[in-house]
Amino acid sequence: MKGEWSSVTAQGIAAIRAIESSRPPEQRICYDPLARQLVSPVFYLLAKLFWRYGEWRAPGTTGFIVARARYIDDYLQTCLDGGIDQLVILGAGLDSRAYRFEQLREHVKVFEVDHPATQQEKCKRLRRIFDELPKYVTFVPIDFNEESLEKLFDFGFDKQWKTLFIWEGVTYYLTAEAMDSTLEFVVRNSEEGSSIIFDYVHVSALTAAHKRGEIARMQRYGRFTGEQLIFGIEEGKVVEFLSQRGYTQIVNVTSEDLKRAYFTGVNQNRPIAPIYAIVHATVKS
Ligand SMILES: C[S@@+](CC[C@H](N)C(=O)[O-])C[C@H]1O[C@@H](n2cnc3c(N)ncnc32)[C@H](O)[C@@H]1O
Repeated sequence: MKGEWSSVTAQGIAAIRAIESSRPPEQRICYDPLARQLVSPVFYLLAKLFWRYGEWRAPGTTGFIVARARYIDDYLQTCLDGGIDQLVILGAGLDSRAYRFEQLREHVKVFEVDHPATQQEKCKRLRRIFDELPKYVTFVPIDFNEESLEKLFDFGFDKQWKTLFIWEGVTYYLTAEAMDSTLEFVVRNSEEGSSIIFDYVHVSALTAAHKRGEIARMQRYGRFTGEQLIFGIEEGKVVEFLSQRGYTQIVNVTSEDLKRAYFTGVNQNRPIAPIYAIVHATVKS
């Protein structure tokens, strides 16, 4: 991330969720009715104008983004039904879950962690929607590449509470050291039964001679926005990767799994990019 710049990718992803949410119920894969208000009107307009072109250049990227949002929503609901005390949204961007899930309001302490520049911009938009920032959400400004998540303790994070960490659309832009230090923080500071969910790209997609359109583009322009695609995990190796770092009950969810689960009816021929996956895991007791 570039010092003062709010995240461009956070805007782009939220714009895609906003467009998806404007479809009729039987046609949409995810539903985020707040996305339209959170995203800047300029980004929304650009996304509306260019998403077909984007899909042509990189088929299935939007399919993965909307299926990822849906899967993480469903996973959060399962965790809420099972009982959690804290939710930490890492690299929250314009994620609206804190304001969409009623159960969070009463029973769960929510932390939104993000780069300070992105967080400031989001808080401005939230104030426009809600007048004031909701009290059950704590905003923690952190640059993952520079700072440690230990900062969460200064903002009231309690390591004895059962916690879900959501890390959506972020690992791609981090150094291997920042990945490790976040995964280690979660393991060291989570009560039994706590879990983490995140998505990642197969490392081969970052290094291939012929890269998919969106990868080539983001690698080309990332140095201007400060969001460089640099991190991936080897295909088929995520279970080993996380078990070596202290996790158990590791579930890898491939694009094919997402397609089977959500791309039904009118969406059955909609493509989903094969190079991405989601994983969730529980902290070993
Ligand atoms: C693609 S957006 C995803 C936002 C949100 N999780 C979502 O899915 O809509 C990437 C997010 O990672 C955050 N991010 C990228 N690099 C970061 C860093 N070094 N430290 C903290 N946050 C970072 C950006 O601020 C942005 O919110």
